[in-house]
Amino acid sequence: MLFVQDLSHSFGNREVLHEINLEVEQGQILAIMGSSGGGKTTLLKCMSGLLVPSQGDVIVDGVSVRREPDQARRNLGLVFQYAALFDYLSVRDNILFGVERRRRMSAKQKDELVAEMLDAVSLEASAATQLPSELSGGMRKRVGLARALAMEPKVILYDEPTSGLDPITAYSIDRLIVDTRERLGVTSIVVSHDVNSVYRVADRIAFLEAGRMVFVGTREEFEEARVGGIDELVQKARANNFSYIVREIG
Ligand SMILES: Nc1ncnc2c1ncn2[C@@H]1O[C@H](COP(=O)(O)OP(=O)(O)OP(=O)(O)O)[C@@H](O)[C@H]1O
Ligand SMILES: [Mg+2]
Repeated sequence: MLFVQDLSHSFGNREVLHEINLEVEQGQILAIMGSSGGGKTTLLKCMSGLLVPSQGDVIVDGVSVRREPDQARRNLGLVFQYAALFDYLSVRDNILFGVERRRRMSAKQKDELVAEMLDAVSLEASAATQLPSELSGGMRKRVGLARALAMEPKVILYDEPTSGLDPITAYSIDRLIVDTRERLGVTSIVVSHDVNSVYRVADRIAFLEAGRMVFVGTREEFEEARVGGIDELVQKARANNFSYIVREIG
Protein backbone atom coordinates (compact mmCIF):
# COMPACT_ATOMS: atom_id res chain seq x y z
CA MET A 1 0.00 0.00 0.00
CA LEU A 2 2.66 2.50 1.10
CA PHE A 3 6.34 2.01 0.36
CA VAL A 4 9.22 4.24 1.34
CA GLN A 5 12.16 3.36 -0.88
CA ASP A 6 15.78 4.29 -0.10
CA LEU A 7 14.68 7.71 1.02
CA SER A 8 17.30 10.24 2.12
CA HIS A 9 16.85 13.92 2.77
CA SER A 10 19.22 16.78 3.45
CA PHE A 11 18.61 20.38 4.43
CA GLY A 12 21.55 22.18 2.84
CA ASN A 13 24.46 19.83 3.40
CA ARG A 14 23.01 18.34 6.59
CA GLU A 15 21.52 14.90 6.05
CA VAL A 16 18.51 14.38 8.35
CA LEU A 17 17.14 11.15 6.82
CA HIS A 18 19.39 8.33 5.65
CA GLU A 19 18.25 5.54 3.29
CA ILE A 20 14.89 4.87 4.88
CA ASN A 21 12.90 1.82 3.74
CA LEU A 22 9.43 1.11 5.04
CA GLU A 23 6.36 -0.83 4.01
CA VAL A 24 2.85 -0.39 5.38
CA GLU A 25 0.01 -2.69 4.40
CA GLN A 26 -3.49 -1.53 3.57
CA GLY A 27 -5.46 -0.77 6.73
CA GLN A 28 -2.48 -1.11 9.06
CA ILE A 29 -1.41 1.39 11.70
CA LEU A 30 2.32 1.96 11.88
CA ALA A 31 3.73 4.06 14.71
CA ILE A 32 6.97 5.95 14.23
CA MET A 33 8.87 6.74 17.41
CA GLY A 34 12.28 8.25 18.03
CA SER A 35 14.12 11.02 19.79
CA SER A 36 13.40 14.66 19.15
CA GLY A 37 15.01 15.99 15.99
CA GLY A 38 15.44 12.45 14.64
CA GLY A 39 13.60 13.28 11.44
CA LYS A 40 10.04 12.03 12.05
CA THR A 41 8.23 15.14 10.87
CA THR A 42 10.57 15.42 7.89
CA LEU A 43 9.75 11.82 6.96
CA LEU A 44 6.01 12.52 7.15
CA LYS A 45 6.47 15.60 5.00
CA CYS A 46 8.33 13.53 2.40
CA MET A 47 5.56 10.91 2.48
CA SER A 48 2.86 13.50 2.03
CA GLY A 49 4.60 15.26 -0.86
CA LEU A 50 5.08 18.50 1.10
CA LEU A 51 8.82 17.97 0.71
CA VAL A 52 10.57 16.38 -2.23
CA PRO A 53 13.19 14.01 -0.78
CA SER A 54 16.79 14.49 -1.92
CA GLN A 55 16.89 10.80 -2.86
CA GLY A 56 14.50 7.87 -3.05
CA ASP A 57 10.75 7.80 -3.36
CA VAL A 58 7.46 7.09 -1.65
CA ILE A 59 4.85 4.98 -3.45
CA VAL A 60 1.27 5.29 -2.25
CA ASP A 61 -1.26 2.93 -3.79
CA GLY A 62 1.00 2.53 -6.81
CA VAL A 63 1.55 6.28 -7.28
CA SER A 64 5.03 7.80 -6.95
CA VAL A 65 5.18 10.95 -4.84
CA ARG A 66 8.22 12.02 -6.83
CA ARG A 67 6.83 11.44 -10.31
CA GLU A 68 3.14 12.25 -9.76
CA PRO A 69 3.08 14.50 -6.68
CA ASP A 70 -0.40 15.92 -7.29
CA GLN A 71 -1.99 12.51 -7.75
CA ALA A 72 -0.09 11.08 -4.76
CA ARG A 73 -1.08 13.99 -2.51
CA ARG A 74 -4.74 13.23 -3.17
CA ASN A 75 -4.29 9.87 -1.47
CA LEU A 76 -2.77 11.34 1.67
CA GLY A 77 -4.13 13.27 4.61
CA LEU A 78 -1.79 14.93 7.07
CA VAL A 79 -2.80 15.77 10.63
CA PHE A 80 -0.18 18.18 11.90
CA GLN A 81 1.70 18.29 15.17
CA TYR A 82 0.00 21.53 16.25
CA ALA A 83 -3.38 20.97 14.54
CA ALA A 84 -2.43 23.82 12.14
CA LEU A 85 -5.94 25.16 11.75
CA PHE A 86 -6.64 28.51 10.16
CA ASP A 87 -7.42 30.70 13.16
CA TYR A 88 -9.49 33.19 11.20
CA LEU A 89 -11.76 30.50 9.71
CA SER A 90 -14.65 28.79 11.48
CA VAL A 91 -14.47 25.06 12.15
CA ARG A 92 -16.82 24.59 9.17
CA ASP A 93 -14.56 26.53 6.81
CA ASN A 94 -11.48 24.77 8.15
CA ILE A 95 -13.07 21.41 7.34
CA LEU A 96 -14.11 22.57 3.87
CA PHE A 97 -10.82 24.30 3.08
CA GLY A 98 -9.22 21.59 0.93
CA VAL A 99 -12.34 19.92 -0.49
CA GLU A 100 -13.80 23.16 -1.81
CA ARG A 101 -10.71 23.63 -3.91
CA ARG A 102 -10.96 20.14 -5.32
CA ARG A 103 -14.61 19.83 -6.31
CA ARG A 104 -17.71 21.95 -6.66
CA MET A 105 -20.31 21.42 -3.97
CA SER A 106 -23.72 22.90 -3.31
CA ALA A 107 -24.34 24.61 0.03
CA LYS A 108 -26.40 21.59 1.06
CA GLN A 109 -23.60 19.18 0.19
CA LYS A 110 -21.19 21.29 2.22
CA ASP A 111 -23.50 21.29 5.22
CA GLU A 112 -23.86 17.54 4.97
CA LEU A 113 -20.14 16.95 4.67
CA VAL A 114 -19.36 19.17 7.67
CA ALA A 115 -22.03 17.42 9.76
CA GLU A 116 -20.73 14.01 8.74
CA MET A 117 -17.09 14.89 9.52
CA LEU A 118 -17.92 16.42 12.91
CA ASP A 119 -19.86 13.28 13.74
CA ALA A 120 -16.93 11.11 12.59
CA VAL A 121 -14.62 12.81 15.08
CA SER A 122 -17.25 12.94 17.83
CA LEU A 123 -17.73 16.70 17.91
CA GLU A 124 -21.12 18.34 18.33
CA ALA A 125 -22.72 19.87 15.25
CA SER A 126 -22.72 23.24 17.04
CA ALA A 127 -18.90 23.32 16.86
CA ALA A 128 -19.18 24.18 13.15
CA THR A 129 -19.59 27.90 13.75
CA GLN A 130 -16.87 28.20 16.39
CA LEU A 131 -13.38 29.55 15.82
CA PRO A 132 -10.32 27.39 16.61
CA SER A 133 -9.39 29.78 19.46
CA GLU A 134 -12.66 28.86 21.19
CA LEU A 135 -11.81 25.16 21.25
CA SER A 136 -9.77 23.03 23.64
CA GLY A 137 -6.55 21.37 22.44
CA GLY A 138 -8.27 18.01 22.05
CA MET A 139 -11.10 19.53 20.03
CA ARG A 140 -8.63 21.29 17.75
CA LYS A 141 -6.92 17.96 17.05
CA ARG A 142 -10.32 16.49 16.19
CA VAL A 143 -11.02 19.31 13.75
CA GLY A 144 -7.58 18.73 12.19
CA LEU A 145 -8.54 15.10 11.67
CA ALA A 146 -12.00 16.05 10.35
CA ARG A 147 -10.34 18.30 7.78
CA ALA A 148 -8.03 15.49 6.67
CA LEU A 149 -10.90 12.95 6.49
CA ALA A 150 -13.01 15.30 4.37
CA MET A 151 -10.50 14.75 1.55
CA GLU A 152 -11.19 10.99 1.66
CA PRO A 153 -7.53 9.99 1.84
CA LYS A 154 -6.32 6.41 1.55
CA VAL A 155 -3.55 7.09 4.02
CA ILE A 156 -3.59 9.37 7.05
CA LEU A 157 -0.37 10.64 8.57
CA TYR A 158 -0.63 11.88 12.15
CA ASP A 159 2.19 13.96 13.60
CA GLU A 160 2.07 13.64 17.40
CA PRO A 161 -1.72 13.66 17.60
CA THR A 162 -1.73 13.37 21.41
CA SER A 163 1.18 15.63 22.37
CA GLY A 164 0.22 18.34 24.81
CA LEU A 165 -3.03 16.62 25.77
CA ASP A 166 -4.02 15.33 29.19
CA PRO A 167 -4.06 11.49 29.46
CA ILE A 168 -7.84 11.17 29.17
CA THR A 169 -8.09 13.36 26.06
CA ALA A 170 -5.05 11.59 24.62
CA TYR A 171 -6.79 8.28 25.19
CA SER A 172 -9.89 9.50 23.36
CA ILE A 173 -7.76 10.61 20.39
CA ASP A 174 -6.13 7.16 20.34
CA ARG A 175 -9.60 5.62 20.21
CA LEU A 176 -10.49 7.95 17.37
CA ILE A 177 -7.43 6.86 15.36
CA VAL A 178 -8.34 3.19 15.80
CA ASP A 179 -12.05 3.82 15.07
CA THR A 180 -11.18 5.73 11.92
CA ARG A 181 -9.13 2.79 10.72
CA GLU A 182 -11.92 0.30 11.54
CA ARG A 183 -14.61 2.42 9.91
CA LEU A 184 -12.80 3.52 6.77
CA GLY A 185 -10.07 0.90 6.43
CA VAL A 186 -7.65 3.79 6.11
CA THR A 187 -3.93 3.05 6.34
CA SER A 188 -2.40 5.14 9.12
CA ILE A 189 1.00 6.32 10.23
CA VAL A 190 1.24 7.84 13.68
CA VAL A 191 4.29 9.68 14.97
CA SER A 192 4.31 9.59 18.75
CA HIS A 193 6.54 9.95 21.81
CA ASP A 194 4.12 8.09 24.05
CA VAL A 195 4.84 4.35 24.33
CA ASN A 196 1.53 3.52 25.99
CA SER A 197 -0.38 5.38 23.31
CA VAL A 198 1.61 3.53 20.63
CA TYR A 199 0.80 0.19 22.26
CA ARG A 200 -2.89 1.09 22.13
CA VAL A 201 -3.03 1.98 18.45
CA ALA A 202 -0.17 0.44 16.47
CA ASP A 203 0.07 -2.87 14.60
CA ARG A 204 3.78 -2.26 14.12
CA ILE A 205 6.35 0.15 15.50
CA ALA A 206 9.25 1.83 13.73
CA PHE A 207 12.06 3.64 15.53
CA LEU A 208 13.93 6.49 13.90
CA GLU A 209 17.19 7.65 15.42
CA ALA A 210 19.32 10.47 14.02
CA GLY A 211 17.81 9.96 10.57
CA ARG A 212 18.19 6.17 10.48
CA MET A 213 15.43 3.59 10.82
CA VAL A 214 17.01 1.39 13.45
CA PHE A 215 14.00 -0.85 14.14
CA VAL A 216 10.68 -1.95 12.62
CA GLY A 217 8.63 -4.68 14.24
CA THR A 218 5.74 -5.76 16.43
CA ARG A 219 5.17 -4.60 19.99
CA GLU A 220 6.63 -7.86 21.31
CA GLU A 221 9.77 -7.39 19.22
CA PHE A 222 9.95 -3.75 20.30
CA GLU A 223 9.92 -4.74 23.97
CA GLU A 224 12.83 -7.12 23.35
CA ALA A 225 14.77 -4.73 21.10
CA ARG A 226 18.11 -3.60 22.43
CA VAL A 227 18.89 -0.98 19.81
CA GLY A 228 19.19 2.76 20.17
CA GLY A 229 16.99 4.39 22.77
CA ILE A 230 14.28 1.71 22.66
CA ASP A 231 15.38 -0.16 25.77
CA GLU A 232 15.29 2.97 27.90
CA LEU A 233 11.93 4.01 26.50
CA VAL A 234 10.40 0.59 27.25
CA GLN A 235 11.75 0.64 30.83
CA LYS A 236 10.37 4.14 31.43
CA ALA A 237 6.97 3.17 30.06
CA ARG A 238 6.89 0.13 32.34
CA ALA A 239 7.80 2.28 35.34
CA ASN A 240 5.14 4.85 34.44
CA ASN A 241 2.51 2.24 33.96
CA PHE A 242 3.47 0.64 37.24
CA SER A 243 3.27 3.84 39.25
CA TYR A 244 -0.05 4.58 37.56
CA ILE A 245 -1.45 1.21 38.64
CA VAL A 246 -0.07 1.66 42.16
CA ARG A 247 -1.74 5.06 42.37
CA GLU A 248 -5.01 3.62 41.14
CA ILE A 249 -5.00 0.82 43.68
CA GLY A 250 -3.47 2.67 46.53
N1 LIG B 1 13.00 23.33 7.08
C1 LIG B 1 14.11 22.92 7.69
N2 LIG B 1 15.31 23.48 7.40
C2 LIG B 1 16.46 23.07 7.99
N3 LIG B 1 16.51 22.09 8.91
C3 LIG B 1 15.36 21.49 9.24
C4 LIG B 1 14.10 21.87 8.65
N4 LIG B 1 13.12 21.09 9.19
C5 LIG B 1 13.74 20.28 10.07
N5 LIG B 1 15.08 20.49 10.09
C6 LIG B 1 16.06 19.75 10.91
O1 LIG B 1 15.94 18.38 10.58
C7 LIG B 1 16.09 17.57 11.74
C8 LIG B 1 14.87 16.68 11.88
O2 LIG B 1 13.75 17.48 12.22
P1 LIG B 1 12.29 16.90 12.40
O3 LIG B 1 11.40 18.05 12.66
O4 LIG B 1 11.97 16.03 11.25
O5 LIG B 1 12.48 16.01 13.71
P2 LIG B 1 11.39 15.29 14.60
O6 LIG B 1 11.84 13.89 14.77
O7 LIG B 1 10.03 15.50 14.03
O8 LIG B 1 11.52 16.05 15.99
P3 LIG B 1 10.41 16.37 17.12
O9 LIG B 1 10.24 15.08 17.87
O10 LIG B 1 11.04 17.41 17.95
O11 LIG B 1 9.15 16.84 16.44
C9 LIG B 1 16.29 18.53 12.91
O12 LIG B 1 17.65 18.60 13.19
C10 LIG B 1 15.77 19.85 12.39
O13 LIG B 1 16.44 20.91 12.98
MG1 LIG C 1 8.28 16.48 14.71
